[in-house]
Amino acid sequence: MKLEEVLALGENFKRELSAITNAKALEELRVKYLGRKGGKLTEILSSLKNLSVEEKRKIGPAANALRGKIEAALENKAAEFEGAAVMGDLDVTMPGKKIETGHLHPLTLLENRIREIFLGMNFSVVEGPEVESEYYNFDALNIPAGHPARDMWDTFWLKHSAKGGMFARPNSQSEFGLGQKLLLRTHTSPMQIRYMKKHQPPLQIIVPGRVFRFEATDASHEINFHQVEGLMVGKNISLANLKFVIEHFFRQLFGAKTKIRFRPSYFPFTEPSLEVDIEWKGDWLEVMGAGMVHPSVFENVKYPKGTQGFAFGLGLERLAMIKYKIDDVRLFYSGDLRFIKQF
Ligand code: FA5
Repeated sequence: MKLEEVLALGENFKRELSAITNAKALEELRVKYLGRKGGKLTEILSSLKNLSVEEKRKIGPAANALRGKIEAALENKAAEFEGAAVMGDLDVTMPGKKIETGHLHPLTLLENRIREIFLGMNFSVVEGPEVESEYYNFDALNIPAGHPARDMWDTFWLKHSAKGGMFARPNSQSEFGLGQKLLLRTHTSPMQIRYMKKHQPPLQIIVPGRVFRFEATDASHEINFHQVEGLMVGKNISLANLKFVIEHFFRQLFGAKTKIRFRPSYFPFTEPSLEVDIEWKGDWLEVMGAGMVHPSVFENVKYPKGTQGFAFGLGLERLAMIKYKIDDVRLFYSGDLRFIKQF
């Protein structure tokens, strides 16, 4: 065998390849040259072992190099045909493949609806920090250390205390917040203080956000849930305004026939205080705390005497349970796609 034969084989392959027009012919060409039995190049490669050492040294590398080239050329051509096949079969009238998209979590959907309803009543939406200082979460809301009402909010305290900045207790000796104990906010009410310190009445805001409580979980209690705080302050704001806003809100959310019950209650930062229940499955479910802002709270934010306003804090998960007919709050956080995909 001569080196020329190998080179000639390469030339022949090139010529034949250029005449190939479809995948079937291409496969035949591959068998002709590389087929395990009778392939032209395969035969050359398997006969190498019979050659003298000198011939082997000449022809071996050339034959192996040719195999590489042929394989690569076949592959390129095959890719060309594949592309053409796709274009050839393309039928633009065929229905497309459905692309699965994600969607908003039911709690987000509900929060968006709530924002919409309050925007419709000219409330602004503001948000606040999830890590709070003891001052904003408790003291400024008229719940000093040692006050029995602190037990109403089982608290996750953080190991580190405040170094200053946004957790500072304003205008006090610890102006930079040094030593202020930090916690995961137990409710959205601290934003009442933060907002009033920066704005003068009249004002009307809602504050949606995540809150945390160190308590046992059950079908209607989570350790991590969401509230929407409401605050309206201005001249002559009264309990009648509170009642109207809350009733209007629930009727927009659940329909005109919604049964709502106001019950006297106690919060240190409102006076009088009430709780709002909604009828659900023949029973009353507590969904909201509310009341007229306590004069001490206004004092803490340096509002003039005689300022009036109301505040409320609703539980988002409890409302979602009613709206979507879910009987266990823990499902919202289960990460179970079979549950989530229903919304
Ligand atoms: C408060 O947190 C007050 N800050 C509300 C308030 C604001 C009163 C402004 C007056 C003025 P309460 O602890 O009751 O109150 O919680 C408010 C709502 O959050 C409850 O009505 C309930 O719907 C919801 N909630 C409370 N605890 C949980 C829990 N563990 N899991 C799910 N939802 C809860």
